[in-house]
Amino acid sequence: MNIRNIAIVAHIDHGKSTLADRLIEKYGDISSRNMKEQILDSMDLERERGITIKAQTVSLNSTYMGDTFNINIIDTPGHVDFSYEVSRSLSACDGVMLLVDATQGLEAQTIAHFNMARDLNLIIIPVINKIDLPSADVEAVKKDLSELLDINQNEILSVSAKSGLGVEDLMERIIIDIPEPKGQISKELKAFIIDSWFDNYLGVVSLVRVVKGKIKKGDNIEIFSRKEKHSVDKIGVFTPKIKDLDELCSGQVGFICASIKEIRGAPVGDTIIKANSDTPRLEGFREVNPQVYAALFPQSADDFEAFREALEKLCLNDASLQYEPEHSEALGAGFRCGFLGTLHMEIISERLNREYGMNLIATAPTVAYEVITTDQEVRRVENPSALPETSKIKTILEPIARANILVPDTYIGSVMKLCNDRRGKQINMRYVGGQVELSYDMPLSEIVVDFFDRLKSVSKGYASLDYILDRYEESDVIKLDVLLNGDKVDALAYMAHRTVANLKGKQFTE
Ligand code: GTP
Repeated sequence: MNIRNIAIVAHIDHGKSTLADRLIEKYGDISSRNMKEQILDSMDLERERGITIKAQTVSLNSTYMGDTFNINIIDTPGHVDFSYEVSRSLSACDGVMLLVDATQGLEAQTIAHFNMARDLNLIIIPVINKIDLPSADVEAVKKDLSELLDINQNEILSVSAKSGLGVEDLMERIIIDIPEPKGQISKELKAFIIDSWFDNYLGVVSLVRVVKGKIKKGDNIEIFSRKEKHSVDKIGVFTPKIKDLDELCSGQVGFICASIKEIRGAPVGDTIIKANSDTPRLEGFREVNPQVYAALFPQSADDFEAFREALEKLCLNDASLQYEPEHSEALGAGFRCGFLGTLHMEIISERLNREYGMNLIATAPTVAYEVITTDQEVRRVENPSALPETSKIKTILEPIARANILVPDTYIGSVMKLCNDRRGKQINMRYVGGQVELSYDMPLSEIVVDFFDRLKSVSKGYASLDYILDRYEESDVIKLDVLLNGDKVDALAYMAHRTVANLKGKQFTE
């Protein structure tokens, strides 16, 4: 079987979903009547805001030198909050198209995704997009990309995802350059869960890559970490419409439905094996933890039950969202929720409002701290008001992120000043193409609140940012209580570094 599995990766807005549209139009099974812009962004919110939140897969067919090839393309999100989506999409692929906007050049996530793909030994096809725009500087971007990838400029493709120019050459390169997936059909089944979501008609649907063996309708399977057994009742691929199949063989990417009741029953990154076999799991299973927490309260106490139901439903589709009940004297009953980042928080709040009509009050976002108590217990504190009494605290550890910033050298001074103000420690500085990459260790709490907006403002919009949680480190962090008319309002309490606590308190009161 001729199969190619490839992901499209790029910095936010460099044109991944638009390129996927052109490929689908040409090689997918869809009539032009049903074709719409950014077809893979299926959520209304994704389409309106022009951002991809969930990775999506489409199975295409193309012919080359008389042979037919099945090309599975995964369109991934570009925003840093969703980079775990990218990392697990990449583990299901043998190559990536690294897309770069010809008017923007390399940006922080171009480099982050390049590093991720290189670490996984994936073949990288460099593609410059938006060459139709008058402000496109294809030659300069080619030069930067060839330096980054250490390749000849001739090997870089140029396309316009808008007009479709260059798309056929790109398909040819995918077929020639990306290797056929390895894995033997004769071996025991091992499949990797790339994604799971809840569909109103089908129940839990899991997108899988079969790594070894095959999976057939009626098979009894086991989800490795859950030890639960299920019978497979539907198998297929998206072309982008659903196409039913009887089986998926090693190397193929497709979906399965197996009467799994809730999405936590098919965790992403987990391994599917044959029921009752002792096949070891595939490597690479990593649970995603929220990075930002905030409490959400309904404006009217009568809406609490509706709010609980809305959260339960949202969680069916978004396993990374976590929540637990919280009560506040001032704001009543609500939930403390964990998000992947502030964009994720914004999206969830907006979905709760639009899809479920909830009017909510949110507390300021905070990160999770680790507290070592005087009796040597380590506690994770996601809610400032849950901090143990000061006399019981031995040390507080705060999360430190590794931030990589790409910026033209004219703005280095102002970016460095901003990073220093945010308690950043410079780790590295290097030239990448015509820009400078600055690496900083910075407290996550300093990044999640308005750092990105400040960065854009001090660099006139040119700097781009990528970050990843690195470690927990001892820090002089304290809890700042807010009193209204002399009464402590627990929901307003927040954590701050001692050196800036006074200032923050004053700003907050104002
Ligand atoms: P995220 O999923 O949010 O990371 O974005 P994306 O990389 O999928 O980008 P998307 O396809 O949404 O494109 C971003 C914007 O660029 C849209 O307004 C597109 O219409 C536009 N665009 C994409 N490709 C081209 C192109 O080749 N030429 C022109 N002129 N515009 C393009």
